[in-house]
Amino acid sequence: MEPLERYRPIVDDFEAFRAACERPLPSAVRVNTIKATAERVRRALDEADIASDPVDWHDGLFVLPEDSPGSNWPYFHGWIHGQEEVSAVPATVLDPKPGDRVWDACAAPGSKTTQLAALMDDHGEVVATDNNLGRISALRTNTERLGATSIAVTHEDARNHSLKPFGGANYDRALVDVPCSCEGTIRKNPDAFEDWTLSHVEGIAGVQKGVLKRAVEATAPGGTVVYSTCTFAPEENEAVLDFALDETACELVDYDLPLDHRPGVTEWDGEAFDPSVQKAKRIYPHHNDTGGFFCAKLEVTGE
Ligand SMILES: C[S@@+](CC[C@H](N)C(=O)[O-])C[C@H]1O[C@@H](n2cnc3c(N)ncnc32)[C@H](O)[C@@H]1O
Repeated sequence: MEPLERYRPIVDDFEAFRAACERPLPSAVRVNTIKATAERVRRALDEADIASDPVDWHDGLFVLPEDSPGSNWPYFHGWIHGQEEVSAVPATVLDPKPGDRVWDACAAPGSKTTQLAALMDDHGEVVATDNNLGRISALRTNTERLGATSIAVTHEDARNHSLKPFGGANYDRALVDVPCSCEGTIRKNPDAFEDWTLSHVEGIAGVQKGVLKRAVEATAPGGTVVYSTCTFAPEENEAVLDFALDETACELVDYDLPLDHRPGVTEWDGEAFDPSVQKAKRIYPHHNDTGGFFCAKLEVTGE
């Protein structure tokens, strides 16, 4: 638990935060609206004797207190997908519409890609990129099981993403759900801190900056980019946004989130960030009994 100690200065009720990080997280599933409705899924789970609790802020999410998402018929039919509550936030914030062209820059294994396709009623184009072939295989399997036909998969480094294979036009929206130190997944993965080092945090921040930069460049002026991580480290969150504000044509925008959250921090370890990073949202495990998460919404200004 040592890495958590560094967040004492920025987390309110630190002992409650630490205690929540030590509690296991129950499984949750998202209803795949390409194939089913929340009502149909609830009935199917009832008929299979699987306990499910609706999530109050999102009518397409259920917590399964006693079951695992991949071991029931609604899962095999592609009616549900295992996805924890906070993981459903970024696609909701990106809010794509049917017909949009959307880039999911770090997509595998596809929880958010398939959520984007569902939000678009599977009409339009979701380009799903990842640089890890093994994880791309899981992305393809999930895409097929969930029946999403609007997804095109690319295997490449998102920092060098080319628009050419897709006609060269910029995207309407981009999701940048970057690789990170995963501190916020500690309730699901008790080993999450085993290989934690500050040099890994600082190293991965370089990748995050490169991917976010490419996403802003690849999105049309007026378009939206959502940046998210499942970690608490400001080096991977506000510092990456601060870099994007300096180096690319974008600005942070406000958004509503019906989960208890805290604003982005404007100072860390002697470094001051652009005050607008407060528009980003930090989701802590002790506030909503979820995993930890960070999510920011940016508008591409084009100048
Ligand atoms: C947080 S995970 C993405 C989870 C995914 N968005 C989901 O909801 O299922 C980050 C992903 O980024 C991929 N990745 C890491 N570096 C990358 C890079 N330079 N370009 C593209 N993908 C990268 C990893 O393979 C990993 O699958």
